[in-house]
Amino acid sequence: MQHVLLTGGAGYIGSHAAAALLQAGYSITILDNLHNSSRSVRPAIEALGGRPVDWIEADIRDESALDRLLAQTPVDAVIHFAGLKAVGESVAHPLRYYDNNVSGTLTLCQAMARAGIQTLIFSSSATVYDLGQKMPLREESALGPSHPYGWSKFMVEQILLDLYRSDPTWRIALLRYFNPVGAHPSGRIGERPNGIPNNLMPHICEVARGRLPYLTVHGNDYPTRDGTGIRDYLHVMDLVEGHLAALRYLTTSAAPLVLNLGTGQGTSVLEMVNVFSEVTNRSVPVRVGPRRPGDQAACWADPGRARTLINWQARYDTAAMCRDAWCWASREETG
Ligand code: NAD
Ligand code: WQD
Repeated sequence: MQHVLLTGGAGYIGSHAAAALLQAGYSITILDNLHNSSRSVRPAIEALGGRPVDWIEADIRDESALDRLLAQTPVDAVIHFAGLKAVGESVAHPLRYYDNNVSGTLTLCQAMARAGIQTLIFSSSATVYDLGQKMPLREESALGPSHPYGWSKFMVEQILLDLYRSDPTWRIALLRYFNPVGAHPSGRIGERPNGIPNNLMPHICEVARGRLPYLTVHGNDYPTRDGTGIRDYLHVMDLVEGHLAALRYLTTSAAPLVLNLGTGQGTSVLEMVNVFSEVTNRSVPVRVGPRRPGDQAACWADPGRARTLINWQARYDTAAMCRDAWCWASREETG
């Protein structure tokens, strides 16, 4: 059985990956500093996965904690979810983002090298691209982040590609996520950040729960079919399947894997609101506000390379994304 270390595995995407890896027969260790998560997710992961997990509350920047862990646990691969991901916060506190996301990854890779572990899957982001270019985005599209968060992902990609070029025995995957949304269909795990993120789906759910009076639509004068922003929303369960497929690929192929993980479909803000209301029968009043600084009109993926190389494509539609997001959010209400 392969043993996989999930850094940031208590977080939104990591917790869903943890459950899926356990169900797929892997054993796992979760290392997380709980900066944006809670240990309360552990029993749900173990219940869904049907097995206990090793659980380490530590920071990826803690070299001695990593050395102790990798000396005592036979890790075969690392999926590196740990990172700060709030764009606005990265603009206000760039050093915090470069220290956590870039220096943290350097410390992790150095500890892996000392322990002879050379298989790494990295959570990258569509924000490494120049989002002002023609859509859809392919892996060879022009790169050009527009904020420190995106630059931190860009820098880590470069570091990992240089690491491979220096020693081709490393097995590396850079997975560029578009807009992950939704929750586990069981309703037992979902996105539960410390504080409300700025993202669309959590805000829609807060309005549907009656905790916000209306959704502010950030601009309706974009050059899109209904004037609102278009994004490539991806069910978190599809995203997780992409990680399992990438892990399998790395056991048989040497070249670094650089992949877009998106559906290839764009959905506007108003379209997502309408699907949500239809699926959940909850009203989501909207008010149009000014454009959000830094937002682009449209961003969606061409996921063709993932289909070709790892036989992966998204299966869940926006109705399932809304259904599962609401199942989690409404259940959270009942605690
Ligand atoms: P999340 O905040 O829910 O999970 C990240 C986890 O990492 C959290 O549990 C946090 O406590 C932990 N963490 C952060 N810094 C750490 C450190 N120094 N040491 C140990 N643990 C640390 O975020 P998520 O949505 O699950 O995202 C996971 C990864 O995917 C992140 O790297 C993020 O940048 C990337 N990503 C997310 C999205 C998205 O929209 N959710 C899109 C593209 C990329
Ligand atoms: C989506 C659309 C908004 C909230 C961000 C990060 C990116 C990645 C995914 C980490 C846009 C509109 C939103 C609201 C709205 N995260 N919106 N009202 O900005 O595409 O990507 O999350 O890697 O790095 O940038 O996602 O969900 O914030 O916005 O109208 O209350 O919804 O303007 O068009 P975004 P988002």
